[in-house]
Amino acid sequence: MRYFPAFHDLSTRPSLVVGGGEAAARKLRLLLKAGARPVVVAPRVGAEIAALAQAGSLTWHARAFAPADIAGCTLVIAATGLAEVDAAVSAAAQAAGLPVNVVDRPELSSFITPAIIDRDPLVIGISSGADAPILARQLRARLESLLPANLGRLARFAGAFRGAVAAQIGDGVQRRRFWERFFAGPVADKVLAGDEVGAREAMLGLINGRAVRQRDEGSVAIVGAGPGDPDLMTFKALRRLQEADVVLYDKLVGPEIVDYARRDALRVYVGKSKADHAMSQDAINALMAEHALAGRRVVRLKGGDPFIFGRGGEELDYLQRRGIAVEVVPGVTAAAGCAAAAGIPLTLRGTALAVTFITGHARDGEPDLDWASLAAGKQTLAVYMGVSTAGTVARRLIEHGLAAGTPVAVIENGTRPEQRVVTGRLEELDSRLRDAGISGPALIIIGEVARQALEADLAAELERAAAV
Ligand SMILES: C[S@@+](CC[C@H](N)C(=O)[O-])C[C@H]1O[C@@H](n2cnc3c(N)ncnc32)[C@H](O)[C@@H]1O
Repeated sequence: MRYFPAFHDLSTRPSLVVGGGEAAARKLRLLLKAGARPVVVAPRVGAEIAALAQAGSLTWHARAFAPADIAGCTLVIAATGLAEVDAAVSAAAQAAGLPVNVVDRPELSSFITPAIIDRDPLVIGISSGADAPILARQLRARLESLLPANLGRLARFAGAFRGAVAAQIGDGVQRRRFWERFFAGPVADKVLAGDEVGAREAMLGLINGRAVRQRDEGSVAIVGAGPGDPDLMTFKALRRLQEADVVLYDKLVGPEIVDYARRDALRVYVGKSKADHAMSQDAINALMAEHALAGRRVVRLKGGDPFIFGRGGEELDYLQRRGIAVEVVPGVTAAAGCAAAAGIPLTLRGTALAVTFITGHARDGEPDLDWASLAAGKQTLAVYMGVSTAGTVARRLIEHGLAAGTPVAVIENGTRPEQRVVTGRLEELDSRLRDAGISGPALIIIGEVARQALEADLAAELERAAAV
């Protein structure tokens, strides 16, 4: 490590900032967040610093820097952008043995400021040793998305109970186990969800040993993993996945998503595509309950949203009937994901005033749908599981009055790297699907919303034909 990470208490002595422009203002924002008492030396300052001085948040000396300014300071920042002045500030601070940072001049700095994730009192600093600050910022953005906003609250909550836990659990190993369980358990969840009163009560129960059973109680989270692109998972889905002891996942959930689970979590493929019944619904229900009743945290991971053609409702009902703690985490459903990825809106002002999600799944050869209402105009139909019955669906809609020339778009493997979009007209839906050899999970969009995509494809086709 070229730079040693350390966290400074800036509240006791002043921090000196030389410079009054935007760079200085940026540093001052950071310093003030950390409870510093900044002193600014600059002949002129911008509006933000002037306002902070006026409000008494910092002291401003309206003059040029003098080496004596560093006396009594805890750290020094030079942000004038003037090479000579910045060098003089650096020399004076280094001669006095004070940590100094010169903005954008690592060679004149004895410390650098990291990219910061602030969940006070929990703070994470990321440094690339001044080599790649943008990389550090990107990492920060990724970590920000992984860390619940209430993490600081959780740290403070735990801090308030440290003494009580130490008094109750003398053994160090036992105490560590207690905290490990606490941070991964339901009491911490309560704090993160903002229920501090409930959390306090549960925590007292835990400490006093009265709620040992609760600590060991399992739970199930029925989690929507989105349509395929892992970036479309919600923060909550990711968290539940990382906390899980057991993950039961469907065919539509790719390995890049399942891999977010802890390495030691048990992963069970339960299949359940049309032709691949790795496990029946009854067996899946029983397995979820078995693990939860054994005290494990189960994640039932499903493609898209669990409550849209996902049988999430049945699973919820099954678990609730058995008194098992269960939570549903929504996901981006295939219609929303595919539409966005293909650039096809689902509603369109004046043209498509409603969107209907329908299943093309058929028990007896034909989906049991109200064709007349589906064929009524000014709406978009998003057909799930509709590849094998597409011909029937198209025929029925046309019979009930929907124009044979209505645009359609089929999105196969939407949001995934192998996504394909095939467009056409309703009357040719089946042949377009067959000609394109659509085999992956595919969503069919029927309606005027697909016209632009269809026309763009037709124009591209004409262009290709003309070129030949
Ligand atoms: C059993 S349903 C599950 C739907 C899921 N619960 C949801 O909200 O998206 C499976 C169907 O969803 C659609 N589907 C799911 N993921 C898809 C994707 N990435 N691209 C296209 N269609 C998808 C297909 O129509 C597939 O046959």
